Amino acid sequence: MTSRRLPRRHDLAPLMKFKRPVLSPRKRRLASALTIEDLRRVAKRRTPRAAFDYADGAADDEVSLSRARQAFADVEFRPSVLRDVSRVDTSREVLGVSSALPFGIAPTGFTRLMQTEGEIAGVMAAEAAGIPYTLSTMGTTSIEDVAAAAPRARKWFQLYMWNDRDRSMALVERAAKAGFDTLVVTVDVPVAGARLRDTRNGFTIPPTLTPRTVVNALPRPAWWFNLLTTEPLAFASLDSWSGTVGDLLDTMFDPTVTYDDLAWIREQWPGKVSVKGVQTVDDARRLAGAGVDAIVLSNHGGRQLDRAPVPFHLLPSVVAAVGSDVEVHLDTGIMSGQDIVAAVAHGARFTLVGRAYLYGLMAGGRLGVDRAIEILRGQIERTMRLLGVSSLDELEPGHVTALRRLVPPDMSPDR
Ligand SMILES: Cc1cc2nc3c(=O)[nH]c(=O)nc-3n(C[C@H](O)[C@H](O)[C@H](O)COP(=O)(O)O)c2cc1C
Repeated sequence: MTSRRLPRRHDLAPLMKFKRPVLSPRKRRLASALTIEDLRRVAKRRTPRAAFDYADGAADDEVSLSRARQAFADVEFRPSVLRDVSRVDTSREVLGVSSALPFGIAPTGFTRLMQTEGEIAGVMAAEAAGIPYTLSTMGTTSIEDVAAAAPRARKWFQLYMWNDRDRSMALVERAAKAGFDTLVVTVDVPVAGARLRDTRNGFTIPPTLTPRTVVNALPRPAWWFNLLTTEPLAFASLDSWSGTVGDLLDTMFDPTVTYDDLAWIREQWPGKVSVKGVQTVDDARRLAGAGVDAIVLSNHGGRQLDRAPVPFHLLPSVVAAVGSDVEVHLDTGIMSGQDIVAAVAHGARFTLVGRAYLYGLMAGGRLGVDRAIEILRGQIERTMRLLGVSSLDELEPGHVTALRRLVPPDMSPDR
């Protein structure tokens, strides 16, 4: 027979863990998001469909994007045990300067359309976290305003090159003058990819009010309030535009651009040059020979060529071919710190995140971007510890095996 007694005060005290309630709904929302996928769900609830789909979607059947994410999900980590991992160092030298984390913010166009704080939220969050921020040619905040908002941030400028050299040059000069230290030249956009969600949603810049968009707007009043009560959306670097996104992109992109134009830009730009959108070993070799400082293995987050090579799969052969001549960076499909650790283990010097930070932005503006970075940081640190490494340089391909599904022969474990 169990004998009972009255509970005493000092027995109860350790059990009473009432946290002070978080009064700000935004902070509460963000604190309850534990993964980037959680942030994506909040973002979807809060953002009108056309804007959310513009960020979330990819080209055609979206196979490039889903394969890239699947490739990361399909890795198997191989941990080493009994290592002292009380301290971990997540910093990484990238293009001559240290970054606190092995990822930076990828260039994204139309960012203020997704959430009104847009580029300013991105660059300030990057400044606070000590990581690089990349401003897109299609950014909705000017080069100068981005520089002024975060004077201590490391800033890169992404260029869509035109054959019209005066136009390219005007942008490049402004970026250099504003203190941007690296030019990221995007080369996978001779024409716009087929973003079918945008066409189906009738997505336009600026957004138009149709009966459908109005119905969709009703449960998302904050987004519309922000849009209508802040500076009108305009392209920082370009003349204002009103039309469909597809039309705009087709006007912007120049299918005549070649390696000669790249060589010309290389001569004009005083800082480092990174070429984004490399998808074959042959192009990686040719670019290494052309004297660029970095290449970014990327299929533009699946937004251009569908069924394109998975950057993570391409990584080992590119690192073997040119890894000692240029820095090899990678993006597309990164949704967790584990993905970043896997890429670094296979030889990526650095990575970029696009949607992962945009989901944070749409979920909660600047605080949401902070939260996205915090989630990735926590995942990187914990994965490093669980793998038994205390610095990124200790990561090696042996820590990460790609499981069989979708694995090209040169990455298989029994190669
Ligand atoms: C909404 C959106 C806009 C983008 N705009 C640009 C751009 O203007 N210039 C560019 O080089 N890449 C652009 N990208 C591609 C990103 O820089 C990056 O390559 C891609 O997002 C990486 O994939 P992830 O979203 O899976 O991280 C954009 C991506 C998204 C999602």
